[in-house]
Amino acid sequence: PTTRYYEWNISQQTIAPDGLERPMLLVNGMFPGPLVEANTGDRIVVKVTNNMVNGTAIHWHGMFQNGTNWMDGSVGITQCPIPPGQSFTYNFTVPNQWGTYWWHSHAASQYIDGIYGPLIIHSPDEPHLAEYQEDVIMMIADHYHTDSGSLVSWYLSPDSEGAEPVPDNGVINGRGTFDCSGDSQALFPTGNKCNNGAPMSVFDFKAGTTYRVRIINSGAFADFQFSIDNHNLTVIEADGVDMQPVQVQRLPIHVAQRYSVLVHANQAVDNYWVRALMNTNCFNTPNPALNPSIQAIIRYEGAASTQAPNSVDWSSSAWVAVCVDLTLDMLKPYTPVPVPAADVSYHIDISFQTISKDHVNMGYMNQTSWRPLMNDSTLFQSQRGISAFDAVSSSQFVIPLNNTNGVQLVLNNLDEGSHPFHFHGHVFHVLGWGHGNYQAGVTPLELVNPLRRDTITIPAYGWTVVRFANDNPGLWALHCHISWHSESGLMVQFESLPDKIKTMDIPAELKSMCAASSAMKR
Ligand code: C2O
Repeated sequence: PTTRYYEWNISQQTIAPDGLERPMLLVNGMFPGPLVEANTGDRIVVKVTNNMVNGTAIHWHGMFQNGTNWMDGSVGITQCPIPPGQSFTYNFTVPNQWGTYWWHSHAASQYIDGIYGPLIIHSPDEPHLAEYQEDVIMMIADHYHTDSGSLVSWYLSPDSEGAEPVPDNGVINGRGTFDCSGDSQALFPTGNKCNNGAPMSVFDFKAGTTYRVRIINSGAFADFQFSIDNHNLTVIEADGVDMQPVQVQRLPIHVAQRYSVLVHANQAVDNYWVRALMNTNCFNTPNPALNPSIQAIIRYEGAASTQAPNSVDWSSSAWVAVCVDLTLDMLKPYTPVPVPAADVSYHIDISFQTISKDHVNMGYMNQTSWRPLMNDSTLFQSQRGISAFDAVSSSQFVIPLNNTNGVQLVLNNLDEGSHPFHFHGHVFHVLGWGHGNYQAGVTPLELVNPLRRDTITIPAYGWTVVRFANDNPGLWALHCHISWHSESGLMVQFESLPDKIKTMDIPAELKSMCAASSAMKR
Protein backbone atom coordinates (compact mmCIF):
# COMPACT_ATOMS: atom_id res chain seq x y z
CA PRO A 1 0.00 0.00 0.00
CA THR A 2 1.13 3.52 -0.68
CA THR A 3 -0.01 6.99 0.36
CA ARG A 4 -1.73 9.28 -2.14
CA TYR A 5 -1.18 12.95 -1.34
CA TYR A 6 -3.30 15.80 -2.64
CA GLU A 7 -3.25 19.54 -1.96
CA TRP A 8 -6.45 21.38 -2.60
CA ASN A 9 -7.28 25.03 -2.64
CA ILE A 10 -10.96 25.93 -2.69
CA SER A 11 -11.95 29.35 -3.96
CA GLN A 12 -14.67 31.24 -5.77
CA GLN A 13 -14.05 31.75 -9.49
CA THR A 14 -16.19 32.84 -12.40
CA ILE A 15 -16.35 30.29 -15.19
CA ALA A 16 -18.85 29.37 -17.92
CA PRO A 17 -19.49 25.59 -17.80
CA ASP A 18 -22.24 25.80 -20.44
CA GLY A 19 -21.25 29.10 -22.05
CA LEU A 20 -22.96 31.26 -19.42
CA GLU A 21 -20.65 32.85 -16.88
CA ARG A 22 -21.41 32.51 -13.19
CA PRO A 23 -19.42 32.46 -9.97
CA MET A 24 -18.57 28.89 -8.95
CA LEU A 25 -16.76 27.31 -5.98
CA LEU A 26 -13.85 25.27 -7.31
CA VAL A 27 -11.06 23.02 -6.08
CA ASN A 28 -7.76 24.07 -7.70
CA GLY A 29 -9.79 25.98 -10.28
CA MET A 30 -11.13 22.76 -11.80
CA PHE A 31 -14.70 21.73 -12.65
CA PRO A 32 -15.27 18.94 -11.89
CA GLY A 33 -12.56 18.90 -9.24
CA PRO A 34 -9.45 16.67 -9.26
CA LEU A 35 -9.64 12.89 -9.54
CA VAL A 36 -8.70 11.00 -6.37
CA GLU A 37 -7.44 7.58 -7.38
CA ALA A 38 -6.00 4.82 -5.20
CA ASN A 39 -5.72 1.07 -4.76
CA THR A 40 -7.48 -0.86 -2.04
CA GLY A 41 -5.36 -0.65 1.10
CA ASP A 42 -3.83 2.73 0.24
CA ARG A 43 -3.88 5.78 2.46
CA ILE A 44 -5.48 8.92 1.07
CA VAL A 45 -4.23 12.26 2.42
CA VAL A 46 -5.86 15.47 1.22
CA LYS A 47 -4.85 18.87 2.56
CA VAL A 48 -7.85 21.14 2.04
CA THR A 49 -7.30 24.90 2.23
CA ASN A 50 -10.44 26.99 2.36
CA ASN A 51 -10.08 30.29 0.51
CA MET A 52 -13.81 30.98 0.40
CA VAL A 53 -15.88 33.31 2.56
CA ASN A 54 -17.86 30.41 4.08
CA GLY A 55 -16.81 27.30 5.98
CA THR A 56 -16.53 23.95 4.23
CA ALA A 57 -15.97 20.21 4.75
CA ILE A 58 -15.25 17.43 2.27
CA HIS A 59 -17.14 14.12 2.34
CA TRP A 60 -15.75 10.98 0.69
CA HIS A 61 -19.01 9.57 -0.60
CA GLY A 62 -19.14 5.79 -0.14
CA MET A 63 -15.97 5.39 1.93
CA PHE A 64 -16.65 3.15 4.93
CA GLN A 65 -14.27 5.11 7.21
CA ASN A 66 -14.29 2.12 9.57
CA GLY A 67 -12.37 3.36 12.63
CA THR A 68 -12.06 6.91 11.24
CA ASN A 69 -15.62 8.27 11.45
CA TRP A 70 -14.22 11.76 12.16
CA MET A 71 -12.79 11.85 8.59
CA ASP A 72 -16.30 11.50 7.10
CA GLY A 73 -16.54 15.25 6.48
CA SER A 74 -20.17 15.94 7.35
CA VAL A 75 -20.84 19.30 8.97
CA GLY A 76 -22.75 19.09 12.25
CA ILE A 77 -22.38 15.30 12.35
CA THR A 78 -18.67 14.43 12.28
CA GLN A 79 -17.05 17.86 12.28
CA CYS A 80 -17.42 21.62 12.33
CA PRO A 81 -16.67 23.46 9.09
CA ILE A 82 -13.11 24.34 8.09
CA PRO A 83 -13.13 28.11 8.65
CA PRO A 84 -12.26 30.54 5.86
CA GLY A 85 -8.49 31.00 5.59
CA GLN A 86 -7.71 27.70 7.34
CA SER A 87 -6.64 24.21 6.28
CA PHE A 88 -7.52 20.73 7.41
CA THR A 89 -5.91 17.49 6.27
CA TYR A 90 -8.15 14.48 5.69
CA ASN A 91 -6.26 11.23 6.20
CA PHE A 92 -7.80 7.75 5.96
CA THR A 93 -7.18 4.29 4.54
CA VAL A 94 -9.38 2.28 2.19
CA PRO A 95 -8.96 -1.28 3.46
CA ASN A 96 -11.65 -3.38 1.82
CA GLN A 97 -13.65 -1.65 -0.83
CA TRP A 98 -13.22 -0.66 -4.48
CA GLY A 99 -15.17 0.81 -7.32
CA THR A 100 -16.68 4.14 -8.31
CA TYR A 101 -17.13 6.80 -5.65
CA TRP A 102 -17.00 10.57 -5.51
CA TRP A 103 -16.15 13.36 -3.11
CA HIS A 104 -18.05 16.55 -2.48
CA SER A 105 -18.54 19.40 -0.05
CA HIS A 106 -20.86 18.40 2.80
CA ALA A 107 -21.45 21.94 4.04
CA ALA A 108 -24.93 23.22 3.23
CA SER A 109 -25.61 22.94 -0.52
CA GLN A 110 -22.07 23.96 -1.52
CA TYR A 111 -21.30 21.05 -3.82
CA ILE A 112 -23.92 22.31 -6.24
CA ASP A 113 -21.66 25.30 -6.87
CA GLY A 114 -18.85 23.03 -8.10
CA ILE A 115 -17.06 21.40 -5.14
CA TYR A 116 -17.16 17.78 -6.32
CA GLY A 117 -15.02 15.26 -8.16
CA PRO A 118 -14.51 11.54 -8.81
CA LEU A 119 -12.98 9.08 -6.33
CA ILE A 120 -11.93 5.77 -7.90
CA ILE A 121 -10.57 2.78 -5.99
CA HIS A 122 -8.92 -0.08 -7.90
CA SER A 123 -8.31 -3.63 -6.75
CA PRO A 124 -6.71 -6.71 -8.30
CA ASP A 125 -9.72 -8.61 -6.92
CA GLU A 126 -12.25 -6.89 -9.17
CA PRO A 127 -14.12 -9.69 -10.98
CA HIS A 128 -14.60 -7.83 -14.26
CA LEU A 129 -11.02 -6.56 -14.64
CA ALA A 130 -10.20 -8.76 -17.64
CA GLU A 131 -13.30 -7.63 -19.54
CA TYR A 132 -12.21 -4.09 -20.47
CA GLN A 133 -9.10 -2.20 -21.51
CA GLU A 134 -9.81 1.46 -20.73
CA ASP A 135 -11.43 3.43 -17.94
CA VAL A 136 -13.62 6.50 -18.59
CA ILE A 137 -15.39 8.75 -16.07
CA MET A 138 -18.63 10.58 -16.91
CA MET A 139 -19.94 12.87 -14.17
CA ILE A 140 -23.49 13.89 -14.99
CA ALA A 141 -25.09 16.78 -13.17
CA ASP A 142 -27.93 19.21 -13.43
CA HIS A 143 -26.67 22.78 -13.57
CA TYR A 144 -28.06 25.99 -12.13
CA HIS A 145 -27.27 29.51 -13.27
CA THR A 146 -27.82 30.90 -9.78
CA ASP A 147 -25.66 30.18 -6.74
CA SER A 148 -26.99 27.47 -4.42
CA GLY A 149 -27.17 29.74 -1.37
CA SER A 150 -29.72 32.01 -3.06
CA LEU A 151 -31.69 29.01 -4.27
CA VAL A 152 -31.84 27.49 -0.78
CA SER A 153 -32.99 30.80 0.71
CA TRP A 154 -35.77 30.95 -1.84
CA TYR A 155 -36.72 27.28 -1.40
CA LEU A 156 -36.89 27.61 2.37
CA SER A 157 -39.10 30.68 2.19
CA PRO A 158 -42.89 30.88 1.89
CA ASP A 159 -42.41 32.15 -1.71
CA SER A 160 -41.46 28.73 -3.04
CA GLU A 161 -44.60 27.08 -1.67
CA GLY A 162 -42.45 23.98 -1.35
CA ALA A 163 -41.48 23.76 -5.02
CA GLU A 164 -37.82 22.87 -5.57
CA PRO A 165 -35.55 25.06 -7.69
CA VAL A 166 -35.64 23.48 -11.16
CA PRO A 167 -32.32 23.20 -13.02
CA ASP A 168 -31.49 25.54 -15.90
CA ASN A 169 -29.32 23.04 -17.75
CA GLY A 170 -27.00 20.07 -17.24
CA VAL A 171 -23.34 19.23 -17.69
CA ILE A 172 -21.27 16.12 -18.40
CA ASN A 173 -17.79 16.39 -16.89
CA GLY A 174 -18.43 20.07 -16.25
CA ARG A 175 -19.39 20.97 -19.82
CA GLY A 176 -22.68 21.65 -21.47
CA THR A 177 -24.10 23.82 -24.15
CA PHE A 178 -26.73 26.48 -23.82
CA ASP A 179 -28.84 28.57 -26.16
CA CYS A 180 -28.42 32.16 -24.96
CA SER A 181 -31.35 33.49 -26.96
CA GLY A 182 -35.15 33.53 -26.96
CA ASP A 183 -36.98 31.51 -24.33
CA SER A 184 -33.84 30.39 -22.56
CA GLN A 185 -33.11 34.02 -21.57
CA ALA A 186 -35.51 33.20 -18.75
CA LEU A 187 -32.91 30.73 -17.49
CA PHE A 188 -30.16 33.17 -16.61
CA PRO A 189 -29.68 36.28 -14.54
CA THR A 190 -29.56 39.36 -16.75
CA GLY A 191 -26.14 40.81 -17.24
CA ASN A 192 -24.19 37.52 -17.16
CA LYS A 193 -22.05 36.98 -20.24
CA CYS A 194 -23.38 34.17 -22.39
CA ASN A 195 -21.70 32.46 -25.35
CA ASN A 196 -23.66 30.23 -27.70
CA GLY A 197 -22.15 26.94 -28.78
CA ALA A 198 -19.92 26.19 -25.78
CA PRO A 199 -18.08 22.91 -26.40
CA MET A 200 -19.51 19.68 -24.98
CA SER A 201 -17.33 16.95 -23.50
CA VAL A 202 -15.78 14.67 -26.14
CA PHE A 203 -14.65 11.12 -25.32
CA ASP A 204 -12.13 9.55 -27.70
CA PHE A 205 -12.86 5.90 -28.44
CA LYS A 206 -10.86 3.39 -30.47
CA ALA A 207 -12.72 0.81 -32.54
CA GLY A 208 -12.44 -2.65 -31.02
CA THR A 209 -11.69 -1.46 -27.49
CA THR A 210 -13.97 -2.18 -24.52
CA TYR A 211 -14.40 0.70 -22.09
CA ARG A 212 -15.46 0.70 -18.46
CA VAL A 213 -17.56 3.84 -18.30
CA ARG A 214 -18.06 5.07 -14.73
CA ILE A 215 -21.23 7.14 -14.54
CA ILE A 216 -21.68 9.38 -11.51
CA ASN A 217 -24.74 11.57 -10.90
CA SER A 218 -23.14 14.49 -9.07
CA GLY A 219 -26.12 16.80 -9.43
CA ALA A 220 -28.47 18.52 -7.01
CA PHE A 221 -31.92 17.37 -7.96
CA ALA A 222 -32.49 15.61 -11.29
CA ASP A 223 -32.36 11.92 -12.04
CA PHE A 224 -31.33 10.96 -15.56
CA GLN A 225 -31.77 8.27 -18.19
CA PHE A 226 -28.25 7.64 -19.47
CA SER A 227 -27.61 6.14 -22.91
CA ILE A 228 -25.10 6.04 -25.77
CA ASP A 229 -26.52 5.86 -29.28
CA ASN A 230 -25.91 2.47 -31.00
CA HIS A 231 -24.03 1.07 -27.98
CA ASN A 232 -25.35 -1.33 -25.38
CA LEU A 233 -24.42 -0.80 -21.75
CA THR A 234 -23.43 -3.81 -19.64
CA VAL A 235 -23.82 -2.88 -15.97
CA ILE A 236 -21.06 -4.43 -13.82
CA GLU A 237 -20.99 -2.22 -10.71
CA ALA A 238 -23.37 -0.12 -8.63
CA ASP A 239 -22.08 2.20 -5.86
CA GLY A 240 -18.84 0.26 -5.35
CA VAL A 241 -20.47 -3.20 -5.38
CA ASP A 242 -19.62 -5.56 -8.27
CA MET A 243 -22.69 -6.83 -10.11
CA GLN A 244 -23.50 -9.81 -12.26
CA PRO A 245 -23.48 -8.34 -15.78
CA VAL A 246 -26.82 -7.08 -17.08
CA GLN A 247 -27.33 -5.38 -20.43
CA VAL A 248 -29.49 -2.28 -20.88
CA GLN A 249 -29.83 0.50 -23.43
CA ARG A 250 -30.93 3.15 -20.97
CA LEU A 251 -29.78 3.38 -17.40
CA PRO A 252 -31.75 5.31 -14.79
CA ILE A 253 -29.42 7.06 -12.33
CA HIS A 254 -30.51 9.21 -9.41
CA VAL A 255 -28.53 11.83 -7.51
CA ALA A 256 -25.34 10.46 -5.88
CA GLN A 257 -25.65 6.99 -7.44
CA ARG A 258 -22.86 5.48 -9.53
CA TYR A 259 -22.70 2.70 -12.11
CA SER A 260 -19.93 1.13 -14.15
CA VAL A 261 -20.99 -0.09 -17.57
CA LEU A 262 -18.95 -1.92 -20.19
CA VAL A 263 -19.19 -0.31 -23.61
CA HIS A 264 -17.73 -2.16 -26.58
CA ALA A 265 -16.64 0.17 -29.38
CA ASN A 266 -18.01 -2.15 -32.05
CA GLN A 267 -19.73 0.36 -34.32
CA ALA A 268 -18.63 2.10 -37.53
CA VAL A 269 -15.95 4.78 -37.12
CA ASP A 270 -18.08 7.88 -36.48
CA ASN A 271 -19.38 10.26 -33.79
CA TYR A 272 -22.14 9.16 -31.39
CA TRP A 273 -24.22 11.03 -28.85
CA VAL A 274 -23.90 10.32 -25.17
CA ARG A 275 -27.29 11.26 -23.76
CA ALA A 276 -28.30 12.10 -20.24
CA LEU A 277 -32.00 12.81 -20.39
CA MET A 278 -33.28 14.63 -17.33
CA ASN A 279 -36.40 12.95 -16.02
CA THR A 280 -38.27 16.23 -15.80
CA ASN A 281 -41.55 14.31 -15.54
CA CYS A 282 -40.37 13.30 -12.06
CA PHE A 283 -40.28 16.99 -11.04
CA ASN A 284 -43.30 18.54 -9.40
CA THR A 285 -42.85 21.78 -11.33
CA PRO A 286 -41.63 21.53 -14.90
CA ASN A 287 -39.61 24.36 -16.40
CA PRO A 288 -40.79 24.83 -20.00
CA ALA A 289 -37.65 26.73 -21.04
CA LEU A 290 -35.36 23.88 -19.99
CA ASN A 291 -33.94 21.53 -22.63
CA PRO A 292 -33.76 18.26 -20.69
CA SER A 293 -31.47 16.50 -23.17
CA ILE A 294 -27.90 16.82 -21.86
CA GLN A 295 -25.30 15.58 -24.30
CA ALA A 296 -21.67 14.71 -24.89
CA ILE A 297 -19.89 13.09 -27.84
CA ILE A 298 -18.10 9.80 -28.35
CA ARG A 299 -15.63 10.19 -31.19
CA TYR A 300 -14.02 7.11 -32.71
CA GLU A 301 -10.42 7.51 -33.75
CA GLY A 302 -10.46 8.50 -37.43
CA ALA A 303 -13.90 10.17 -37.33
CA ALA A 304 -14.28 13.80 -38.37
CA SER A 305 -14.67 16.22 -35.51
CA THR A 306 -18.19 17.57 -35.32
CA GLN A 307 -20.32 19.14 -32.63
CA ALA A 308 -23.39 17.38 -34.03
CA PRO A 309 -23.26 13.60 -34.49
CA ASN A 310 -25.95 12.11 -36.74
CA SER A 311 -26.63 9.16 -34.49
CA VAL A 312 -30.18 8.38 -33.40
CA ASP A 313 -31.51 7.85 -29.89
CA TRP A 314 -32.70 4.41 -28.75
CA SER A 315 -36.46 4.10 -29.00
CA SER A 316 -38.43 4.81 -25.88
CA SER A 317 -39.21 1.09 -25.58
CA ALA A 318 -35.64 0.76 -24.32
CA TRP A 319 -36.70 2.51 -21.11
CA VAL A 320 -36.49 0.16 -18.18
CA ALA A 321 -37.56 2.47 -15.38
CA VAL A 322 -38.65 6.04 -14.77
CA CYS A 323 -38.35 7.82 -11.40
CA VAL A 324 -37.24 4.50 -9.80
CA ASP A 325 -34.06 2.37 -9.73
CA LEU A 326 -33.34 -0.71 -11.82
CA THR A 327 -35.35 -3.54 -10.29
CA LEU A 328 -33.82 -5.86 -7.71
CA ASP A 329 -33.99 -8.87 -10.03
CA MET A 330 -31.95 -6.99 -12.66
CA LEU A 331 -29.20 -5.93 -10.25
CA LYS A 332 -27.59 -8.90 -8.49
CA PRO A 333 -24.30 -8.58 -6.62
CA TYR A 334 -21.45 -10.64 -8.06
CA THR A 335 -20.29 -11.78 -4.63
CA PRO A 336 -23.03 -12.58 -2.11
CA VAL A 337 -22.68 -11.35 1.45
CA PRO A 338 -24.98 -12.87 4.09
CA VAL A 339 -27.81 -10.55 5.13
CA PRO A 340 -27.39 -9.66 8.81
CA ALA A 341 -30.15 -10.84 11.11
CA ALA A 342 -31.99 -7.79 12.41
CA ASP A 343 -32.55 -7.57 16.13
CA VAL A 344 -34.06 -4.12 15.88
CA SER A 345 -36.30 -2.53 13.30
CA TYR A 346 -37.20 1.11 12.79
CA HIS A 347 -39.98 2.60 10.76
CA ILE A 348 -39.20 6.04 9.37
CA ASP A 349 -41.76 8.19 7.54
CA ILE A 350 -40.51 10.73 5.01
CA SER A 351 -42.77 13.73 4.51
CA PHE A 352 -42.99 17.45 3.89
CA GLN A 353 -45.05 19.50 6.31
CA THR A 354 -45.82 23.15 6.82
CA ILE A 355 -45.98 23.30 10.58
CA SER A 356 -43.58 26.13 11.29
CA LYS A 357 -45.07 29.51 12.17
CA ASP A 358 -43.40 31.12 9.14
CA HIS A 359 -45.32 28.88 6.72
CA VAL A 360 -42.28 27.17 5.26
CA ASN A 361 -42.63 23.66 3.90
CA MET A 362 -39.92 21.57 5.58
CA GLY A 363 -38.75 17.97 5.20
CA TYR A 364 -39.52 15.62 8.10
CA MET A 365 -38.16 12.24 9.11
CA ASN A 366 -40.90 11.09 11.48
CA GLN A 367 -41.36 14.20 13.66
CA THR A 368 -37.91 15.72 13.09
CA SER A 369 -36.66 18.24 10.56
CA TRP A 370 -32.85 18.35 10.58
CA ARG A 371 -30.87 21.55 11.05
CA PRO A 372 -27.08 21.19 11.28
CA LEU A 373 -25.43 21.93 14.61
CA MET A 374 -23.31 25.02 14.02
CA ASN A 375 -20.60 24.94 16.70
CA ASP A 376 -20.57 21.25 17.50
CA SER A 377 -21.11 17.85 15.99
CA THR A 378 -23.20 14.93 17.16
CA LEU A 379 -20.00 12.85 17.07
CA PHE A 380 -18.29 15.19 19.52
CA GLN A 381 -21.44 15.26 21.68
CA SER A 382 -21.53 11.49 21.74
CA GLN A 383 -17.87 11.33 22.77
CA ARG A 384 -18.52 13.81 25.58
CA GLY A 385 -21.08 11.37 26.88
CA ILE A 386 -24.14 13.31 25.91
CA SER A 387 -26.14 10.52 24.51
CA ALA A 388 -27.17 12.21 21.33
CA PHE A 389 -30.59 10.70 21.73
CA ASP A 390 -31.09 12.31 25.14
CA ALA A 391 -29.87 15.59 23.75
CA VAL A 392 -32.45 15.40 21.03
CA SER A 393 -33.70 18.81 20.10
CA SER A 394 -36.36 19.29 17.54
CA SER A 395 -33.62 19.32 14.91
CA GLN A 396 -31.57 16.16 15.58
CA PHE A 397 -33.04 12.69 15.06
CA VAL A 398 -30.30 10.38 16.33
CA ILE A 399 -30.88 6.64 16.73
CA PRO A 400 -28.43 5.01 19.18
CA LEU A 401 -27.29 1.50 18.24
CA ASN A 402 -25.76 -0.21 21.26
CA ASN A 403 -26.35 -3.89 21.65
CA THR A 404 -27.42 -4.78 18.20
CA ASN A 405 -25.68 -6.57 15.36
CA GLY A 406 -28.14 -5.90 12.62
CA VAL A 407 -30.68 -3.18 11.94
CA GLN A 408 -33.70 -3.21 9.67
CA LEU A 409 -35.19 0.03 8.39
CA VAL A 410 -38.56 0.49 6.80
CA LEU A 411 -38.39 3.77 4.91
CA ASN A 412 -41.83 4.93 4.02
CA ASN A 413 -42.25 7.81 1.58
CA LEU A 414 -45.41 9.85 2.13
CA ASP A 415 -44.30 12.42 -0.45
CA GLU A 416 -45.26 12.77 -4.11
CA GLY A 417 -41.60 12.79 -5.25
CA SER A 418 -39.01 9.99 -5.26
CA HIS A 419 -36.03 10.43 -2.94
CA PRO A 420 -32.45 9.13 -3.38
CA PHE A 421 -31.36 8.21 0.16
CA HIS A 422 -27.67 7.83 0.95
CA PHE A 423 -26.24 6.13 4.03
CA HIS A 424 -22.77 7.17 5.13
CA GLY A 425 -20.17 4.52 6.04
CA HIS A 426 -22.16 1.51 4.83
CA VAL A 427 -23.83 -0.27 2.00
CA PHE A 428 -27.42 -1.28 2.59
CA HIS A 429 -28.80 -4.69 1.85
CA VAL A 430 -31.89 -3.72 -0.15
CA LEU A 431 -34.53 -6.32 0.74
CA GLY A 432 -37.36 -4.81 -1.23
CA TRP A 433 -39.11 -1.72 -2.49
CA GLY A 434 -42.45 -0.93 -3.98
CA HIS A 435 -45.30 1.48 -4.42
CA GLY A 436 -47.99 2.12 -1.83
CA ASN A 437 -47.65 0.88 1.74
CA TYR A 438 -45.22 -1.78 2.90
CA GLN A 439 -47.07 -4.56 4.64
CA ALA A 440 -44.89 -6.60 6.95
CA GLY A 441 -45.45 -10.30 6.45
CA VAL A 442 -47.42 -9.71 3.26
CA THR A 443 -44.81 -8.14 0.98
CA PRO A 444 -42.01 -10.72 0.57
CA LEU A 445 -38.44 -9.57 1.19
CA GLU A 446 -35.34 -10.76 -0.69
CA LEU A 447 -32.95 -12.37 1.78
CA VAL A 448 -30.76 -14.30 -0.69
CA ASN A 449 -28.05 -12.16 -2.26
CA PRO A 450 -30.06 -8.93 -2.37
CA LEU A 451 -28.70 -5.77 -3.97
CA ARG A 452 -26.18 -3.87 -1.89
CA ARG A 453 -25.50 -0.20 -2.53
CA ASP A 454 -25.08 3.08 -0.66
CA THR A 455 -27.74 5.22 -2.38
CA ILE A 456 -31.28 3.98 -3.06
CA THR A 457 -34.28 5.62 -4.67
CA ILE A 458 -37.38 5.47 -2.49
CA PRO A 459 -40.31 5.71 -4.91
CA ALA A 460 -42.97 8.42 -4.66
CA TYR A 461 -45.68 7.23 -2.22
CA GLY A 462 -43.61 4.06 -1.88
CA TRP A 463 -41.36 2.18 0.48
CA THR A 464 -37.97 0.52 0.76
CA VAL A 465 -36.78 -2.02 3.34
CA VAL A 466 -33.05 -2.20 4.03
CA ARG A 467 -30.71 -3.86 6.52
CA PHE A 468 -27.21 -3.11 7.65
CA ALA A 469 -24.66 -4.52 10.06
CA ASN A 470 -23.90 -2.40 13.13
CA ASP A 471 -20.14 -2.86 12.90
CA ASN A 472 -18.80 0.63 12.23
CA PRO A 473 -18.50 2.94 15.24
CA GLY A 474 -19.48 6.56 14.71
CA LEU A 475 -22.24 8.96 13.79
CA TRP A 476 -23.58 8.14 10.36
CA ALA A 477 -25.92 10.29 8.32
CA LEU A 478 -28.82 8.83 6.35
CA HIS A 479 -30.32 11.52 4.16
CA CYS A 480 -32.00 12.42 0.94
CA HIS A 481 -29.17 13.43 -1.41
CA ILE A 482 -31.30 15.97 -3.27
CA SER A 483 -29.55 19.07 -1.99
CA TRP A 484 -32.74 21.02 -1.51
CA HIS A 485 -34.22 18.19 0.55
CA SER A 486 -31.28 17.63 2.90
CA GLU A 487 -31.26 21.40 3.44
CA SER A 488 -34.96 21.25 4.24
CA GLY A 489 -34.40 18.58 6.89
CA LEU A 490 -34.55 15.06 5.36
CA MET A 491 -31.78 13.57 7.51
CA VAL A 492 -31.47 11.07 10.37
CA GLN A 493 -28.32 9.86 12.11
CA PHE A 494 -27.25 6.57 13.60
CA GLU A 495 -24.98 6.54 16.64
CA SER A 496 -23.21 3.20 16.15
CA LEU A 497 -21.44 1.57 19.10
CA PRO A 498 -21.33 4.56 21.48
CA ASP A 499 -18.89 2.79 23.83
CA LYS A 500 -16.31 2.69 21.07
CA ILE A 501 -16.99 6.32 20.16
CA LYS A 502 -16.01 7.28 23.75
CA THR A 503 -12.45 6.02 23.20
CA MET A 504 -11.99 7.30 19.65
CA ASP A 505 -8.78 9.26 19.14
CA ILE A 506 -10.23 12.28 17.38
CA PRO A 507 -7.56 14.87 16.44
CA ALA A 508 -7.72 17.97 18.67
CA GLU A 509 -7.28 20.10 15.55
CA LEU A 510 -10.64 18.88 14.27
CA LYS A 511 -12.44 19.83 17.47
CA SER A 512 -10.77 23.23 17.60
CA MET A 513 -12.49 24.23 14.37
CA CYS A 514 -15.80 24.39 16.23
CA ALA A 515 -14.84 27.60 18.00
CA ALA A 516 -14.45 29.43 14.70
CA SER A 517 -17.36 27.93 12.92
CA SER A 518 -19.87 30.64 13.65
CA ALA A 519 -18.31 32.13 10.51
CA MET A 520 -20.29 29.50 8.65
CA LYS A 521 -23.22 31.09 6.92
CA ARG A 522 -26.06 29.05 5.53
CU1 C2O B 1 -22.76 12.28 -0.85
CU2 C2O B 1 -24.09 12.84 2.93
O1 C2O B 1 -23.42 12.57 1.06
